[in-house]
Amino acid sequence: MPTFKAALIGGGNIADKNHIPALQKLADQVEIVAVCSRDGIKAGALAQKHGIPHAFDDAARMYEQCQPDLVVISTPNNLHYPFAIQALEKGCHVFCEKPPALTAQQAREMADLATRNGLVLAYNLQLRQTGEWELMMRSKADGQLGEIYHIKANFLRRRGIPGWGYFTDKAMQGGGALMDLGVHVLDLALCALDYAVPDRILANTYDFIGKTGGKGLMGSWNPEKFEVEDACMAYLSFPNNASIMLSSSFALNTQTDINRNLEVFGSRGGAKLFPFTLYTEVAGELADVHFPYLEDSDIQLKNTAAFVDACLGKPSNVCTGEQGAILQEVVERIYGSAQRTEV
Ligand SMILES: NC(=O)c1ccc[n+]([C@@H]2O[C@H](COP(=O)([O-])OP(=O)(O)OC[C@H]3O[C@@H](n4cnc5c(N)ncnc54)[C@H](O)[C@@H]3O)[C@@H](O)[C@H]2O)c1
Repeated sequence: MPTFKAALIGGGNIADKNHIPALQKLADQVEIVAVCSRDGIKAGALAQKHGIPHAFDDAARMYEQCQPDLVVISTPNNLHYPFAIQALEKGCHVFCEKPPALTAQQAREMADLATRNGLVLAYNLQLRQTGEWELMMRSKADGQLGEIYHIKANFLRRRGIPGWGYFTDKAMQGGGALMDLGVHVLDLALCALDYAVPDRILANTYDFIGKTGGKGLMGSWNPEKFEVEDACMAYLSFPNNASIMLSSSFALNTQTDINRNLEVFGSRGGAKLFPFTLYTEVAGELADVHFPYLEDSDIQLKNTAAFVDACLGKPSNVCTGEQGAILQEVVERIYGSAQRTEV
C-alpha cells in the first residue's frame, strides 16, 4: 500500500504533462487521490484521463473529503502562496511549482510555517536533477573545481514570449523572464555557492521588444498587454567575494533561439554546462575533459522522487522551503535594484 495520498491543486499543462506522470511512476509510495482546479469540468476531464478517483473545484472540500498527506501546487504564480499556506495548515507536505511565490515575505512565511508544523515544503526546480548538474556538484565535492568564485548563468530566449497563458501579466506572474526562466539557473548558481546570500546586487530590466511587438517563436503576444520585463541582467556579489552574472530573457536580439547554460569558474578547475565539460590541468597541461557516457534521465521523475524522499526523512537534493525563501529574496532584490529601490 502506498505511503502517501497525494492531491494536485492546479490542473493545467505542468500538472498533466509532468506532475501526474511522475507521481504515477512512484505508485509504490504515492497514490494520487484528487485533482482540484478552478474549473471543475476540466479538473474532472484531467482526473478521468489519468484514472484519478476525485476531482474538485474547491480546495476546502477536497481536503475534507480526501485528506491528502501531500499536495502538489501547480497553479499560476500568484496562487502558490495562499494554496501552500492552506496545505501546510491542513498538515500536508507541499511540492510547489516555481517561482516559490510573488514576494520574499510570502516565501519566508511559507518556509517558516512548514518548519513550525514539521512538514516538507519543496520547489520544483528540476534542473538540479540533470546528469550535468549532478556531475558538476560531484566535481565540486571532489575538489576538482577548488573554490568557486564566479558563475555565469544564462537562460535566454531569442523571441520566446509565450503567446498563450498569463506570462505577460504582472499581477499573476509577479515578473517576466527572471520569474519564469531566470529562477531555474539562479537556483543552480546559488547551489554552487552553498546558497549563500549576496550582499550586493546590481540589475537592469528591459521591455523594448515586449512592448514594441515583433516576430515571435512561441506564438504572438499583445504588446499592449505586456506588463513584465522581457530581459533581466543582474550581477550578484557575495560576502566571500564570489559573484554571479545572471542573464534571462523572453526576447533578446541574439543568435540562438534558446541558450540555457552555466559556466562555473573555480580556483582549480572550471566547468561548462550543458553539455558538461571540465576545464583543468592534467600532468602540467591544460585539459578539456568531456563526459560522453553521461545518460539522460527523467528529471521530473527524479525531482518528484527527491521530494518524496524528503517527506520520508531521507537525504534529498530537492529545493527546500528555506532555499526557496532565499531565492525569492534574491529575485525581489534584483527587481528592487532594477527599479533603483535597492542599491
Ligand atoms: N518547473 C517547470 O519547469 C515549470 C514549467 C511550466 C510551468 N511551471 C509553473 O507551473 C505553474 C503552472 O503553470 P502551467 O503552465 O501548468 O499553467 P496552466 O495555465 O496550464 O495551469 C494552471 C492551472 O491552475 C488552475 N487554476 C487557476 N486558478 C485556480 C484557482 N483559483 N484554484 C485552483 N486552480 C486554479 C487553472 O485552472 C489551470 O488548471 C506556474 O507557476 C509555472 O511557473 C513550471
